[in-house]
Amino acid sequence: MVDKLVDDLLTGPRPVDLVANFSSLLPAAVICDFLGVPFPDRDRFGGWILTLTQHDATAEQQAGAFGNLFEYMDALVAAKEAEPTDDLLGQLADVQIRQGELTRQEVVVIGLLLLSAGFDTTASSIALGVVSLLDNPSQLDRLRRDPSLVQPAVEELFRHQNTLQFGVGRVAVEDVELGGRLIRAGEGVILLTPSGGRDEKAYPRPDELDVGRQGPDPMTFGHGIHNCVGKFLARVELQVAIGTLVRRIPGLRLAVPAAELSYRDNSLVYSPRELPVTW
Ligand code: HEM
Repeated sequence: MVDKLVDDLLTGPRPVDLVANFSSLLPAAVICDFLGVPFPDRDRFGGWILTLTQHDATAEQQAGAFGNLFEYMDALVAAKEAEPTDDLLGQLADVQIRQGELTRQEVVVIGLLLLSAGFDTTASSIALGVVSLLDNPSQLDRLRRDPSLVQPAVEELFRHQNTLQFGVGRVAVEDVELGGRLIRAGEGVILLTPSGGRDEKAYPRPDELDVGRQGPDPMTFGHGIHNCVGKFLARVELQVAIGTLVRRIPGLRLAVPAAELSYRDNSLVYSPRELPVTW
């Protein structure tokens, strides 16, 4: 999939918007393929998901978007119950609903959760990762010269960036002292995981991007027993996307100064709105 997208970039006009033509397409194509959701519908369901994550959407707009998304997924699962397909939703519909393990509504909610959690986050991480590398030419050059660094480089990009603009909530089950403060059983804490990624006690020179950094796992996907179920997929997507871009388009560079990029800052998922690049 990544090679096909890069083929299209290489034969298309320059400069090109890497968000519209690469970073937003790959995770949508992957999750659609994996779940069995039609890729051509991406603008429709993508628009509803965007409304759900937008801070300035009204409650009515969000309820409307959720209703549309639910109806869409319900119809899709019903179609897969009638005619099973060889994908995750098809298998859930065929085996789990038929055997009474899951209800239709449960399968619809699983589908919605995976679809909405699975593509905008990864798309934004790819775009933010490319910006960070293009903005740090010495690190980009290290990665170009040593492609085996792609795995630590992606972990470093996850640490360094700030994809998710929300805190992960937890409730203390017993009294615990944290950072000199007593949190009593039953009290809540909201953990700002991107801030953890810049903790100088865990990561020396935390603001610097270092593609060879060996440090604790980034908190991008949460922490502890309950964390992101899609982290393995997201990691592979970034490794392949970034590794292939760096290998196949060695002259890749921003077509505008980095300071001129505009960011989606009214959403749970932070991302450049557009990423004009050339080579
Ligand atoms: C770079 C991309 C991604 C980031 C930054 C990300 C981050 C997160 C975070 C911080 C959580 C909350 C964990 C917690 O409650 O402590 C989460 C939950 C979740 N993520 Fe991801 N995620 C990404 C990609 C994906 C992908 C590709 C999928 C699906 C294939 C996915 C599916 C989910 C689901 C279903 C949950 C909810 C799990 C639950 O509450 O039981 N995520 N993600």
